[in-house]
Amino acid sequence: MIERTFAMLKPGMMQRRLAGEILSRIEKKGLKLVALKLRMIPRALAETHYAEHKGKGFYAGLIDYVTSGPVLAMAVEGEGAVARVRALCGATKVEEALPGTIRGDYALSTGSNVIHASDSADSAARELGLFFEASDFVEWQDGNHGWY
Ligand code: RTP
Ligand code: MG
Repeated sequence: MIERTFAMLKPGMMQRRLAGEILSRIEKKGLKLVALKLRMIPRALAETHYAEHKGKGFYAGLIDYVTSGPVLAMAVEGEGAVARVRALCGATKVEEALPGTIRGDYALSTGSNVIHASDSADSAARELGLFFEASDFVEWQDGNHGWY
């Protein structure tokens, strides 16, 4: 099923000038970017976005981290996009993230694990709604559809 999911390059990726490399992995998989926004996240948005983790030990550090610099928010479309983007990201815990995955290749600590991606279709709908307005989504014909 063609789905849309939400992903976000965390601030370290902008600092390390790696945004292009990570976007490239998503594009090369055959997934289609349909919205892209470089922005700072206000604290209130970060807290809403990560509300499920409120009260956990890593919560304060996570909020500090994702508000510490610009993030690159994106909407990604494609067959099974929610699960496929999660698979490209790799495991949350960096010591479990396999080489070949984004986190496995680009992160040394779980707290700065490079990228966020929605963990379910419901999360994707909720998170896309937090970061984008309807007019931000670009409908475009993918001339390479069928080659991936
Ligand atoms: P994300 O939401 O960022 O895509 O990551 P995820 O689904 O793979 O993992 P989740 O459990 O939702 O955790 C959110 C983010 O919190 C940080 N974290 N640190 N130190 C820790 O044990 C720990 N656990 C989670 C990570 O940055 C993780 O991506
Ligand atoms: Mg999560």
